[in-house]
Amino acid sequence: MCGIVAYVGPKQAYPILIKGLQRLEYRGYDSAGIAILNKDLKLYKTQGKVSDLDQLVKEKDIGGTIGIAHTRWATHGEPNDENAHPHYSFSKDIALIHNGIIENYTALRKTLINRKYKFRSDTDTEVLVYLIEDIKINEKVNLEEAVRIALNQVVGAYAIVVLSKDEPDKLIAARKGSPLVIGMGKDDFFVASDATPIAEYTKNVVYLEEEQIAIIKKNIPLKIIDIKKHKITPYVQKLQVNLNVLEKGGYEHFMLKEIFEQPRSIRDSMRGRLRADKGIVNLGGIRDYEQKIVNAKRIIIIACGTSWHAALLGEYIIEGLTRIPVEVEYASEFRYRNPIIHENEIVIAISQSGETADTLAAIELAKEKGATIIGICNVVGSSIARATHAGSYTHAGPEIGVASTKAFTAQVTLLTLLALRLAEKKGTITRSRFHQILNDLDDIPHKVEETLKTNDKVIKIAEKFKDSPNALYLGRGYNFPVALEGALKLKEISYIHAEGYPAAEMKHGPIALIDQEMPVIFIATNNIIYDKIVSNIQEVKARKGKIIAIVTEGDKDVVGMADYFIEIPETDDILVPLLATIPLQLLSYHIAVMRGCNVDQPRNLAKSVTVE
Ligand code: G6P
Repeated sequence: MCGIVAYVGPKQAYPILIKGLQRLEYRGYDSAGIAILNKDLKLYKTQGKVSDLDQLVKEKDIGGTIGIAHTRWATHGEPNDENAHPHYSFSKDIALIHNGIIENYTALRKTLINRKYKFRSDTDTEVLVYLIEDIKINEKVNLEEAVRIALNQVVGAYAIVVLSKDEPDKLIAARKGSPLVIGMGKDDFFVASDATPIAEYTKNVVYLEEEQIAIIKKNIPLKIIDIKKHKITPYVQKLQVNLNVLEKGGYEHFMLKEIFEQPRSIRDSMRGRLRADKGIVNLGGIRDYEQKIVNAKRIIIIACGTSWHAALLGEYIIEGLTRIPVEVEYASEFRYRNPIIHENEIVIAISQSGETADTLAAIELAKEKGATIIGICNVVGSSIARATHAGSYTHAGPEIGVASTKAFTAQVTLLTLLALRLAEKKGTITRSRFHQILNDLDDIPHKVEETLKTNDKVIKIAEKFKDSPNALYLGRGYNFPVALEGALKLKEISYIHAEGYPAAEMKHGPIALIDQEMPVIFIATNNIIYDKIVSNIQEVKARKGKIIAIVTEGDKDVVGMADYFIEIPETDDILVPLLATIPLQLLSYHIAVMRGCNVDQPRNLAKSVTVE
């Protein structure tokens, strides 16, 4: 987690750094800090948000054209002023920011304490900057060499930027396991955890690779080495980020903006991949692996959080259309339970950020065992995208709200395209059904737009249930993962305890919770098990539970039983989750706003979880 920004060039660093931190605040927001060098190495940091930091430095000397800045999501040491980054070295001549975890920090700390160093914080990060300084002094080497030697002693993950009083025009940046991108302006350099703080200044970027160190010096071309001291030629790429999508665009929160962006983001995820009129589905990024997937005895999908819910839908859709067995695993479980993976099996990794540590580690494990890894990521150039053999980007655009919305629907869209392509190639789908799903899929962005019109009705329902302490979400078939995702969304941002269940499982436990106070959200669209879910609704009604139902337009039976209902347009059963999810996102959003919660930055969460 944590966001990193750094700048060196002719401009004043502070405005660039603080704006960059605001853009990266989704990565963590329990404390923030900056260090700026202008003869003196000035360091300001505070518990709280980036806005608290901005407040703190008012009236302070923040002049200078080189600096580093950080927004934190605590791993070692509680979120307080001392533990905030940057961290000074012992002499206060060096400052460092870090994203990741130094796993052997206890041993390193002990060694340094034995050498009479006194630490100021509880963090693993401070140990690293002390170590760098110790090496610099004792081995009489320059900053980059001290960083390099130190990193060879470190076990764990890091993205770091280091600034030293002795070498005033220079930043040293390095990464392993945590992302870092370097922007190259005309006469200045930017460093950040992702490209969003950089995009408005330059489109030329270099993504630092594992165990690489960048020596970034004013007026000198960028130099990169690896931690074994081999020279690396920087690979400059052109950034494609639309700045408008980084702003709220008139919406009160990023989450609401992102919910309403879904007609566009779903369309973008199908762009160039679906030609319904010609009956073509084409996923360029995995074309070379299609046959291998079609021949696979089994597909395993790994993911975390909301991406795991997309994975579960992927299981239902891929198995349904291709008859290839699919297993879905939480990446965190998969990596530690010695999973059975045969050579030539296919592992699909799904991740919005492309940085989730557990997913990345699970990929490495599957790779070691000879599996072929296909990635479905949203962030271009992310660690997971680069760790996979092939894959497709979801192209949902940057997702800033911590609770995932548009990335989820884009993931589901992509999994549907994949299933269709595989089914076509494998011959497990009839031509007419293939065409019918393609046409319905092509129409989904329009139907999402229609579904978004339920917003006013959802607000009214939110008003009724905003004070409920609990909620139950029930669905069957394709609507079961939708129920899980609906419940996750509510608990993430409103802190209401919510559970998702397969509707028929309810009678094996959760039914005990039902009384007149309990809102039960049924996803009860028109499908082959409609009658079954009607029975489940009756079971809840008999116990006086309050029923909120998501139904297909024109529904009669469920509408007759529900206390509140929301209609969504009719579509193929496989595609219903893309519509049914929308009112549930809106419901969570409005309830959270009404409860006064910080929707875009819910407590204890972070957008990109780069620790296990
Ligand atoms: C965090 C986020 C979730 C996200 C999960 C997986 O917990 O708060 O919204 O679903 O990580 O992230 P990924 O980037 O791998 O999809």
